[in-house]
Amino acid sequence: MEEIRQQFLADLSRARSAKEVDEVRVRYLGRKGAITTLLKGTDFSRLSPDERRELGRKLNELKAFVEEQLVRAAQAAEAAAAPQVGAGQRLDLTLPGTSRRLGAIHPVTLVQMELEDVFQSMGFMVLGGFEVELEYYNFDALNIPPDHPARDMQDTYWLTNGMLMRTHTSANQVRALERFGAPLRAIFPGRCFRYEAIDASHENTFYQLEGLMVDREISVANLIAVMKALLARIFGREVKVRLRPGFFPFVEPGFELDVECLLCGGAGCATCKQSGWIELIPCGLVHPRVLEFGRVDPAVFSGFAFGLGLTRMAMMKYGIPDIRLMNSGDIRFYEQFPAAV
Ligand code: DAH
Repeated sequence: MEEIRQQFLADLSRARSAKEVDEVRVRYLGRKGAITTLLKGTDFSRLSPDERRELGRKLNELKAFVEEQLVRAAQAAEAAAAPQVGAGQRLDLTLPGTSRRLGAIHPVTLVQMELEDVFQSMGFMVLGGFEVELEYYNFDALNIPPDHPARDMQDTYWLTNGMLMRTHTSANQVRALERFGAPLRAIFPGRCFRYEAIDASHENTFYQLEGLMVDREISVANLIAVMKALLARIFGREVKVRLRPGFFPFVEPGFELDVECLLCGGAGCATCKQSGWIELIPCGLVHPRVLEFGRVDPAVFSGFAFGLGLTRMAMMKYGIPDIRLMNSGDIRFYEQFPAAV
Protein backbone atom coordinates (compact mmCIF):
# COMPACT_ATOMS: atom_id res chain seq x y z
CA MET A 1 0.00 0.00 0.00
CA GLU A 2 2.79 2.38 0.86
CA GLU A 3 4.46 1.62 -2.44
CA ILE A 4 1.28 2.43 -4.34
CA ARG A 5 0.88 5.62 -2.38
CA GLN A 6 4.38 6.83 -3.20
CA GLN A 7 4.07 5.89 -6.83
CA PHE A 8 0.71 7.68 -7.03
CA LEU A 9 2.12 10.91 -5.58
CA ALA A 10 5.02 10.78 -7.98
CA ASP A 11 2.70 10.23 -10.96
CA LEU A 12 0.36 12.99 -9.87
CA SER A 13 3.16 15.49 -9.46
CA ARG A 14 4.00 14.99 -13.14
CA ALA A 15 0.40 15.57 -14.35
CA ARG A 16 0.28 19.00 -16.03
CA SER A 17 -3.33 19.25 -17.19
CA ALA A 18 -6.82 18.18 -16.21
CA LYS A 19 -6.55 15.51 -18.87
CA GLU A 20 -3.34 14.13 -17.43
CA VAL A 21 -4.78 14.18 -13.92
CA ASP A 22 -7.64 12.13 -15.24
CA GLU A 23 -5.23 9.65 -16.76
CA VAL A 24 -3.67 9.22 -13.32
CA ARG A 25 -7.14 8.67 -11.88
CA VAL A 26 -7.78 5.88 -14.37
CA ARG A 27 -4.41 4.32 -13.62
CA TYR A 28 -5.28 4.01 -9.90
CA LEU A 29 -9.05 4.03 -9.54
CA GLY A 30 -10.16 2.81 -12.98
CA ARG A 31 -11.54 -0.67 -13.53
CA LYS A 32 -8.04 -2.10 -13.89
CA GLY A 33 -6.39 0.54 -11.70
CA ALA A 34 -3.80 -0.31 -9.06
CA ILE A 35 -6.06 0.38 -6.09
CA THR A 36 -9.05 -1.35 -7.62
CA THR A 37 -6.91 -4.40 -8.31
CA LEU A 38 -5.59 -4.35 -4.77
CA LEU A 39 -9.10 -4.20 -3.30
CA LYS A 40 -10.33 -6.99 -5.52
CA GLY A 41 -7.24 -9.16 -5.01
CA THR A 42 -7.27 -9.17 -1.22
CA ASP A 43 -8.63 -12.35 0.31
CA PHE A 44 -10.23 -11.23 3.56
CA SER A 45 -11.55 -14.69 4.43
CA ARG A 46 -8.22 -15.90 5.67
CA LEU A 47 -7.88 -13.06 8.18
CA SER A 48 -9.12 -12.83 11.70
CA PRO A 49 -11.91 -10.32 12.33
CA ASP A 50 -9.46 -7.84 13.89
CA GLU A 51 -7.01 -8.11 11.02
CA ARG A 52 -9.88 -7.77 8.59
CA ARG A 53 -11.08 -4.55 10.19
CA GLU A 54 -7.61 -3.10 10.31
CA LEU A 55 -6.81 -3.90 6.68
CA GLY A 56 -10.21 -2.62 5.51
CA ARG A 57 -9.65 0.67 7.27
CA LYS A 58 -6.23 1.13 5.71
CA LEU A 59 -7.44 0.32 2.24
CA ASN A 60 -10.31 2.77 2.58
CA GLU A 61 -7.97 5.42 3.87
CA LEU A 62 -5.69 4.98 0.89
CA LYS A 63 -8.57 5.20 -1.51
CA ALA A 64 -9.97 8.34 0.15
CA PHE A 65 -6.51 9.93 0.12
CA VAL A 66 -6.06 9.23 -3.57
CA GLU A 67 -9.52 10.58 -4.40
CA GLU A 68 -8.94 13.79 -2.49
CA GLN A 69 -5.53 14.36 -4.10
CA LEU A 70 -7.06 13.85 -7.52
CA VAL A 71 -9.82 16.42 -6.93
CA ARG A 72 -7.29 18.97 -5.74
CA ALA A 73 -4.97 18.37 -8.64
CA ALA A 74 -7.86 18.65 -11.12
CA GLN A 75 -8.93 21.97 -9.61
CA ALA A 76 -5.39 23.29 -9.67
CA ALA A 77 -4.96 22.25 -13.31
CA GLU A 78 -8.18 24.00 -14.26
CA ALA A 79 -7.23 27.19 -12.45
CA ALA A 80 -3.84 27.18 -14.15
CA ALA A 81 -5.55 26.89 -17.53
CA ALA A 82 -7.72 29.99 -16.89
CA PRO A 83 -6.50 33.27 -18.36
CA GLN A 84 -4.12 35.00 -16.02
CA VAL A 85 -3.96 38.65 -15.16
CA GLY A 86 -0.29 39.60 -15.25
CA ALA A 87 1.48 41.79 -12.72
CA GLY A 88 0.62 45.45 -13.15
CA GLN A 89 -2.51 44.61 -15.13
CA ARG A 90 -6.01 45.14 -13.92
CA LEU A 91 -9.00 42.94 -14.68
CA ASP A 92 -11.80 45.28 -15.80
CA LEU A 93 -14.98 43.57 -14.71
CA THR A 94 -17.12 46.31 -16.26
CA LEU A 95 -16.12 45.43 -19.82
CA PRO A 96 -19.05 44.04 -21.80
CA GLY A 97 -18.85 40.29 -22.27
CA THR A 98 -19.75 38.30 -25.32
CA SER A 99 -23.49 38.53 -25.41
CA ARG A 100 -25.56 35.64 -26.60
CA ARG A 101 -28.53 36.65 -28.66
CA LEU A 102 -31.85 35.19 -27.66
CA GLY A 103 -34.39 34.43 -30.31
CA ALA A 104 -37.70 36.27 -30.17
CA ILE A 105 -41.22 35.22 -31.00
CA HIS A 106 -42.66 36.85 -34.10
CA PRO A 107 -45.53 39.26 -33.30
CA VAL A 108 -47.90 37.29 -35.53
CA THR A 109 -47.01 34.11 -33.65
CA LEU A 110 -47.60 35.88 -30.34
CA VAL A 111 -51.12 36.89 -31.34
CA GLN A 112 -51.74 33.46 -32.85
CA MET A 113 -50.71 31.74 -29.62
CA GLU A 114 -53.03 33.95 -27.57
CA LEU A 115 -55.94 33.24 -29.87
CA GLU A 116 -55.31 29.51 -29.97
CA ASP A 117 -55.36 29.57 -26.21
CA VAL A 118 -58.67 31.40 -25.86
CA PHE A 119 -60.34 29.28 -28.56
CA GLN A 120 -59.11 26.02 -27.11
CA SER A 121 -60.60 27.09 -23.79
CA MET A 122 -63.94 27.39 -25.62
CA GLY A 123 -63.64 23.89 -27.06
CA PHE A 124 -62.34 24.75 -30.54
CA MET A 125 -59.85 22.53 -32.32
CA VAL A 126 -56.80 24.16 -33.85
CA LEU A 127 -56.40 22.78 -37.37
CA GLY A 128 -53.93 23.26 -40.17
CA GLY A 129 -54.54 23.22 -43.88
CA PHE A 130 -52.74 23.55 -47.18
CA GLU A 131 -51.01 26.61 -48.53
CA VAL A 132 -51.20 25.09 -51.99
CA GLU A 133 -54.90 24.50 -52.41
CA LEU A 134 -57.44 23.27 -54.91
CA GLU A 135 -59.56 25.84 -56.68
CA TYR A 136 -62.53 23.87 -55.40
CA TYR A 137 -61.93 24.53 -51.68
CA ASN A 138 -60.64 28.06 -52.11
CA PHE A 139 -63.56 29.17 -54.32
CA ASP A 140 -66.22 26.78 -55.62
CA ALA A 141 -67.10 25.11 -52.32
CA LEU A 142 -67.38 28.57 -50.79
CA ASN A 143 -70.20 29.44 -53.13
CA ILE A 144 -67.94 31.38 -55.50
CA PRO A 145 -68.59 29.78 -58.89
CA PRO A 146 -66.09 30.15 -61.77
CA ASP A 147 -67.55 33.20 -63.47
CA HIS A 148 -68.81 34.94 -60.37
CA PRO A 149 -67.59 38.53 -60.02
CA ALA A 150 -66.76 37.79 -56.36
CA ARG A 151 -63.65 35.94 -57.58
CA ASP A 152 -62.17 39.30 -58.40
CA MET A 153 -62.32 40.29 -54.72
CA GLN A 154 -59.09 38.37 -54.37
CA ASP A 155 -56.24 38.29 -56.84
CA THR A 156 -54.85 34.83 -57.02
CA TYR A 157 -51.47 33.26 -57.65
CA TRP A 158 -52.17 30.33 -59.95
CA LEU A 159 -49.77 27.45 -60.29
CA THR A 160 -49.04 25.86 -63.63
CA ASN A 161 -50.69 22.62 -62.48
CA GLY A 162 -54.04 24.37 -62.02
CA MET A 163 -53.78 24.60 -58.25
CA LEU A 164 -53.41 27.92 -56.45
CA MET A 165 -51.82 29.54 -53.43
CA ARG A 166 -54.76 29.84 -51.05
CA THR A 167 -56.01 33.41 -50.93
CA HIS A 168 -57.72 32.96 -47.56
CA THR A 169 -57.99 30.47 -44.71
CA SER A 170 -61.70 30.10 -45.56
CA ALA A 171 -60.48 27.34 -47.86
CA ASN A 172 -60.36 25.15 -44.74
CA GLN A 173 -64.08 25.41 -44.01
CA VAL A 174 -65.43 22.74 -46.33
CA ARG A 175 -62.37 20.54 -45.85
CA ALA A 176 -63.09 20.47 -42.10
CA LEU A 177 -66.83 19.89 -42.55
CA GLU A 178 -66.11 16.97 -44.88
CA ARG A 179 -63.66 15.50 -42.44
CA PHE A 180 -65.37 16.07 -39.09
CA GLY A 181 -69.02 16.76 -39.92
CA ALA A 182 -71.25 18.64 -37.48
CA PRO A 183 -71.24 19.78 -34.72
CA LEU A 184 -67.84 21.34 -35.23
CA ARG A 185 -65.74 24.02 -33.60
CA ALA A 186 -62.40 24.82 -35.15
CA ILE A 187 -59.97 27.59 -35.90
CA PHE A 188 -57.48 27.58 -38.74
CA PRO A 189 -54.50 29.90 -38.45
CA GLY A 190 -52.33 30.08 -41.53
CA ARG A 191 -50.47 31.86 -44.26
CA CYS A 192 -52.32 33.27 -47.25
CA PHE A 193 -51.16 34.69 -50.56
CA ARG A 194 -52.47 37.31 -52.93
CA TYR A 195 -51.18 38.74 -56.15
CA GLU A 196 -50.89 42.22 -54.77
CA ALA A 197 -48.66 45.27 -55.13
CA ILE A 198 -46.76 45.64 -51.85
CA ASP A 199 -46.87 48.83 -49.82
CA ALA A 200 -47.06 49.84 -46.15
CA SER A 201 -50.44 48.17 -45.72
CA HIS A 202 -50.43 45.43 -48.41
CA GLU A 203 -48.40 42.25 -48.53
CA ASN A 204 -48.59 39.34 -50.93
CA THR A 205 -47.96 36.97 -48.02
CA PHE A 206 -49.84 37.39 -44.74
CA TYR A 207 -51.57 35.43 -42.00
CA GLN A 208 -55.24 34.94 -41.27
CA LEU A 209 -57.08 33.03 -38.60
CA GLU A 210 -60.33 31.49 -39.73
CA GLY A 211 -62.98 30.36 -37.27
CA LEU A 212 -65.90 28.04 -37.81
CA MET A 213 -68.60 26.89 -35.43
CA VAL A 214 -71.43 24.66 -36.60
CA ASP A 215 -74.11 23.24 -34.36
CA ARG A 216 -77.86 23.22 -33.84
CA GLU A 217 -79.34 26.71 -33.44
CA ILE A 218 -76.20 28.76 -33.88
CA SER A 219 -77.14 32.41 -34.28
CA VAL A 220 -75.60 35.87 -34.53
CA ALA A 221 -75.76 36.03 -30.71
CA ASN A 222 -73.22 33.16 -30.51
CA LEU A 223 -71.04 34.90 -33.06
CA ILE A 224 -70.98 38.14 -31.08
CA ALA A 225 -70.28 36.39 -27.78
CA VAL A 226 -67.30 34.53 -29.23
CA MET A 227 -65.95 37.65 -30.96
CA LYS A 228 -66.12 39.56 -27.69
CA ALA A 229 -64.21 36.83 -25.84
CA LEU A 230 -61.55 36.90 -28.54
CA LEU A 231 -61.18 40.68 -28.46
CA ALA A 232 -61.09 40.87 -24.67
CA ARG A 233 -58.18 38.44 -24.71
CA ILE A 234 -56.23 40.29 -27.39
CA PHE A 235 -56.70 43.79 -26.03
CA GLY A 236 -56.84 42.88 -22.36
CA ARG A 237 -60.17 44.55 -21.74
CA GLU A 238 -63.79 44.69 -22.87
CA VAL A 239 -64.10 46.43 -26.23
CA LYS A 240 -67.26 47.83 -27.80
CA VAL A 241 -68.24 46.18 -31.07
CA ARG A 242 -70.82 46.76 -33.77
CA LEU A 243 -71.90 44.76 -36.81
CA ARG A 244 -72.44 46.29 -40.22
CA PRO A 245 -73.71 44.37 -43.21
CA GLY A 246 -70.92 43.07 -45.43
CA PHE A 247 -70.93 40.82 -48.47
CA PHE A 248 -69.05 37.54 -48.71
CA PRO A 249 -70.49 34.77 -50.89
CA PHE A 250 -69.96 32.09 -48.22
CA VAL A 251 -71.97 33.75 -45.45
CA GLU A 252 -75.56 34.92 -45.22
CA PRO A 253 -76.03 37.33 -43.59
CA GLY A 254 -72.45 38.63 -43.80
CA PHE A 255 -71.00 41.29 -41.54
CA GLU A 256 -68.10 43.55 -40.92
CA LEU A 257 -67.40 43.59 -37.21
CA ASP A 258 -66.06 46.95 -36.07
CA VAL A 259 -64.45 47.76 -32.73
CA GLU A 260 -64.56 51.11 -31.07
CA CYS A 261 -61.33 52.89 -31.99
CA LEU A 262 -58.72 51.92 -29.43
CA LEU A 263 -56.74 55.11 -29.92
CA CYS A 264 -59.43 57.76 -29.42
CA GLY A 265 -62.01 55.66 -27.56
CA GLY A 266 -64.67 56.47 -30.13
CA ALA A 267 -64.27 60.24 -30.23
CA GLY A 268 -62.79 60.23 -33.73
CA CYS A 269 -59.14 60.48 -34.81
CA ALA A 270 -56.90 60.06 -37.84
CA THR A 271 -56.55 56.29 -37.37
CA CYS A 272 -60.32 55.69 -37.47
CA LYS A 273 -60.80 58.43 -40.06
CA GLN A 274 -62.90 60.39 -37.55
CA SER A 275 -65.56 57.65 -37.44
CA GLY A 276 -64.75 56.35 -33.96
CA TRP A 277 -64.77 52.75 -35.30
CA ILE A 278 -62.24 50.41 -36.84
CA GLU A 279 -63.19 47.63 -39.23
CA LEU A 280 -61.66 44.49 -37.79
CA ILE A 281 -63.25 41.10 -38.46
CA PRO A 282 -65.34 40.02 -41.43
CA CYS A 283 -67.80 37.34 -40.40
CA GLY A 284 -71.28 35.95 -40.83
CA LEU A 285 -73.58 32.96 -40.63
CA VAL A 286 -72.37 30.09 -42.79
CA HIS A 287 -74.22 30.04 -46.12
CA PRO A 288 -76.50 26.96 -46.44
CA ARG A 289 -74.78 26.06 -49.70
CA VAL A 290 -71.42 25.90 -47.93
CA LEU A 291 -72.88 23.50 -45.37
CA GLU A 292 -74.20 21.40 -48.24
CA PHE A 293 -70.80 21.36 -49.92
CA GLY A 294 -69.51 20.04 -46.60
CA ARG A 295 -72.28 17.38 -46.54
CA VAL A 296 -73.93 18.95 -43.48
CA ASP A 297 -77.71 19.35 -43.54
CA PRO A 298 -78.63 23.07 -43.33
CA ALA A 299 -82.11 22.14 -42.15
CA VAL A 300 -80.58 20.74 -38.96
CA PHE A 301 -77.38 22.73 -38.48
CA SER A 302 -76.35 26.35 -38.74
CA GLY A 303 -73.07 28.05 -38.00
CA PHE A 304 -70.95 31.14 -37.96
CA ALA A 305 -67.59 31.84 -39.54
CA PHE A 306 -65.08 34.63 -39.31
CA GLY A 307 -61.83 35.47 -41.03
CA LEU A 308 -59.52 37.47 -38.85
CA GLY A 309 -56.46 39.14 -40.34
CA LEU A 310 -53.76 37.88 -37.97
CA THR A 311 -51.07 40.07 -39.47
CA ARG A 312 -53.30 43.10 -39.26
CA MET A 313 -54.29 42.24 -35.69
CA ALA A 314 -50.64 42.01 -34.67
CA MET A 315 -49.97 45.37 -36.29
CA MET A 316 -52.80 46.94 -34.32
CA LYS A 317 -51.89 45.32 -31.04
CA TYR A 318 -48.22 46.27 -31.19
CA GLY A 319 -48.57 49.56 -33.10
CA ILE A 320 -46.52 48.30 -36.08
CA PRO A 321 -46.73 51.00 -38.76
CA ASP A 322 -45.57 49.09 -41.85
CA ILE A 323 -46.63 45.57 -42.86
CA ARG A 324 -43.35 45.07 -44.74
CA LEU A 325 -41.52 44.82 -41.40
CA MET A 326 -43.31 41.54 -40.75
CA ASN A 327 -41.52 39.58 -43.48
CA SER A 328 -38.40 41.72 -43.52
CA GLY A 329 -36.13 39.34 -41.64
CA ASP A 330 -34.73 42.44 -39.93
CA ILE A 331 -33.44 41.33 -36.56
CA ARG A 332 -33.75 44.85 -35.08
CA PHE A 333 -37.49 44.56 -35.57
CA TYR A 334 -37.89 41.02 -34.26
CA GLU A 335 -35.67 41.67 -31.24
CA GLN A 336 -38.26 44.00 -29.74
CA PHE A 337 -40.62 41.13 -29.03
CA PRO A 338 -40.49 38.69 -26.11
CA ALA A 339 -38.30 35.61 -26.34
CA ALA A 340 -40.85 33.53 -24.48
CA VAL A 341 -44.38 33.81 -23.19
N1 DAH B 1 -62.09 34.97 -46.39
C1 DAH B 1 -62.42 36.37 -46.36
C2 DAH B 1 -61.24 37.16 -46.90
O1 DAH B 1 -60.15 36.72 -46.81
C3 DAH B 1 -62.72 36.84 -44.98
C4 DAH B 1 -63.95 36.26 -44.37
C5 DAH B 1 -65.14 36.92 -44.45
C6 DAH B 1 -63.93 35.04 -43.72
C7 DAH B 1 -66.29 36.46 -43.87
C8 DAH B 1 -65.07 34.53 -43.14
C9 DAH B 1 -66.26 35.24 -43.23
O2 DAH B 1 -65.10 33.37 -42.48
O3 DAH B 1 -67.39 34.75 -42.62
O4 DAH B 1 -61.46 38.24 -47.40
